Amino acid sequence: MSLEALKREAAAQAVALVRPGMRLGLGTGSTAKHFVDLLAERVRDGLDVVGVPTSEATRAQAERLGVRLTTLDETPELDLTVDGADEIDGALRLIKGGGGAHLREKIVASASRRMVVIADETKLVETLGRFPLPIEVVSFGLGATRRAVEAALAEAGCAGTLTVRERDGAAFRTDSGNLILDAALGRIPDPERLAEGLDRVTGVVEHGLFIGLATAAILATSQGVKVLG
Ligand code: 5RP
Repeated sequence: MSLEALKREAAAQAVALVRPGMRLGLGTGSTAKHFVDLLAERVRDGLDVVGVPTSEATRAQAERLGVRLTTLDETPELDLTVDGADEIDGALRLIKGGGGAHLREKIVASASRRMVVIADETKLVETLGRFPLPIEVVSFGLGATRRAVEAALAEAGCAGTLTVRERDGAAFRTDSGNLILDAALGRIPDPERLAEGLDRVTGVVEHGLFIGLATAAILATSQGVKVLG
């Protein structure tokens, strides 16, 4: 089975969790895109749900496919968020933000009673950190924020390098207009400690460690679907 087929399978299992009237958080990325596609098929068949998109890309896709959208201002509490992840460990801790959407993704997941992660089996890891940790920062004071981030990494026992994310030869800007520092760490020995340290850095808007947010993960493997949580 191709990676794309595995992602679609995980998305299909998550769509089966959706019930009429649900208020949904709609994730971002190639796996979440399959979910929105399959959800839209059910909407066309008459399912009535409403969604909050976690990025402008997901908003555009959902609008194009006719999925009714709302905002967290109109609908501050959601029933279920379905989103992808860059890494998942056995305790349902995640690294997200490979697509640069983790700020909105974390706000939406935090407003949801349940967050179900959908992914192919390659995302499951023993220890988080092989995927570079995205850290969204405001551009003002970048040099000082970077130093403070480096100190927070060291304090949490992490060693590695920080790179300002680029796209097409220019600094990448998130949907909120901020920059991303990608922290290539190799391994994160204590994700909770690192998350707390980064939360304390002024200038960091949000980091991609999602701890205590995911309630389940649907992992598609070539041997079938594995559910965590
Ligand atoms: C975007 C994300 C995505 O969920 C994450 O990057 C996974 O994407 P994909 O499903 O394409 O592998 O966090 O900010």
